[in-house]
Amino acid sequence: MEIYAKLPHETTADVIVTGFFEDDKTLNDTQKSLDEKFENVVSKNILEVENFKGKYLETFTCPVQGAKILAIGLGKKEEFNVDKVREIAAKTIKQSEKLSKTKTVAFNIQNNGNMCCCKIAGNITLGTIMGEYDFDKYKTKKNEEKIERVEILHCKPEKMTPAIEKAKITGDAMDFTKDLIFEPAEYATPTKIAEIATGLANENGLEIKVFGREELKAMNFNAFLAVGQGSVQEQKFIHIKYVPKNFNEGPEKKIAIIGKGITFDSGGLDIKPPASMLTMKTDMSGCACVLGVMKAIAKIKPNVEVHMLSALCENMPSGSSYKVGDVLVAKNGKTIEVDNTDAEGRLTLADALTYADELNVDEVIDVATLTGAVIVALGNTITGVMGHDEEFIKEIIEDAKEAGENLWQMPILDDMQDNLKSDIADMRNTGSRYAGASTAARFLLNFTKAKKWAHLDIAGTAFLDKPYKELNKGATAAMVRTLIQHITK
Ligand code: BES
Ligand code: MG
Ligand code: ZN
Repeated sequence: MEIYAKLPHETTADVIVTGFFEDDKTLNDTQKSLDEKFENVVSKNILEVENFKGKYLETFTCPVQGAKILAIGLGKKEEFNVDKVREIAAKTIKQSEKLSKTKTVAFNIQNNGNMCCCKIAGNITLGTIMGEYDFDKYKTKKNEEKIERVEILHCKPEKMTPAIEKAKITGDAMDFTKDLIFEPAEYATPTKIAEIATGLANENGLEIKVFGREELKAMNFNAFLAVGQGSVQEQKFIHIKYVPKNFNEGPEKKIAIIGKGITFDSGGLDIKPPASMLTMKTDMSGCACVLGVMKAIAKIKPNVEVHMLSALCENMPSGSSYKVGDVLVAKNGKTIEVDNTDAEGRLTLADALTYADELNVDEVIDVATLTGAVIVALGNTITGVMGHDEEFIKEIIEDAKEAGENLWQMPILDDMQDNLKSDIADMRNTGSRYAGASTAARFLLNFTKAKKWAHLDIAGTAFLDKPYKELNKGATAAMVRTLIQHITK
């Protein structure tokens, strides 16, 4: 899909999406010219005859000569914002697809005076990409009605271009992340994902290292190795590095982003019941997220050094699986008694966090489908964020807001470590049933020395069973936008 800005009178679109506020129906210049071109269709047919109210997301379609006008309600003028722009773009692009033979859609969204036009253009771009996404690789019948071009109408089109281009990079990264999450575990094995990561790194001029079992043994990734030992798929650890070039001064900061990479979580010997296992091919959503972020970073080229890490394996029951009661010596030397083989993500992250410490970075952020408990607490539309530096957490929450994602902080208290007491080892990998998301975060804290660390639990937000605002059902690419915003702002 091509997306670009265009002068309003130059549009040749099949569908023209045009917005109206609920409380102010003054026609803007584009609407005035449409009105002239199509015999008062806007002022008469839409506003008077159809009594179109402009309520948020209310729509009305009106055929005109050679095209269709899709009127969209923007709601109350003072309540309008860029998040609504994105939702409107995602929903109207889907609707336009259904209007016969549509190939080009033009957008004319009003500014309420509180937004920068570039932000509107950027969010139309992102919204249309998100709305148009679907994973049809395994369908024999593909959707033939895809929109080919999106025009963003503005009187100074060239001014919109940088925002549109950045949003396209973000949208492409999200599409990449979603594709990987939707892939069955049988396809997206640790080896396959390592291959995909290598391809991504090579295409974008990034450095990559991939470690297999033997190397991981030599490097003491014992907690991670234990989780993968029940699977016939070889486990892989990937490390991609982006180093800024062409800047006069060294990087502003160094960041490590870590994604949980369980390519299938059966629960292991503590096997999950069928309903809970259904979506467990998505337990690598953290890895898919940070890979997508690297793809975007390589194109945006900020003056920040970024290390992407992921410990990839399957959590499977077999004769060689790790068992409850096993004591693991993690990479940082601390010992862990396995209390539940289904609390595997934190074991793989523990060693990845230790590896990140060795990179001497300023910030560490991990993204993980870590606990069912975070879904109980926050549902499917809010990601839980935890950490030990209040200022840093606040910063990440602000970045998420700016990027259009919901984050909510959950606490980590020191005495939560009591919950993790083991009789024979330094700690066990689970606590009591209560405060599960925080307990998991408290566990992770034993394995990072980073002063600025944020843990993002996306168990609820990575994959949806129904659409939410601009997000489709299924993979959401949760935290891709937030991390890109954090790294490139
Ligand atoms: N991958 C799951 C968490 C999860 C649950 C992700 C639902 C997405 C949707 C994780 O590995 C897990 O199994 N966690 C256990 C931990 C428990 C055994 C302490 C959980 O939350 O039930
Ligand atoms: Mg599990
Ligand atoms: Zn898991």
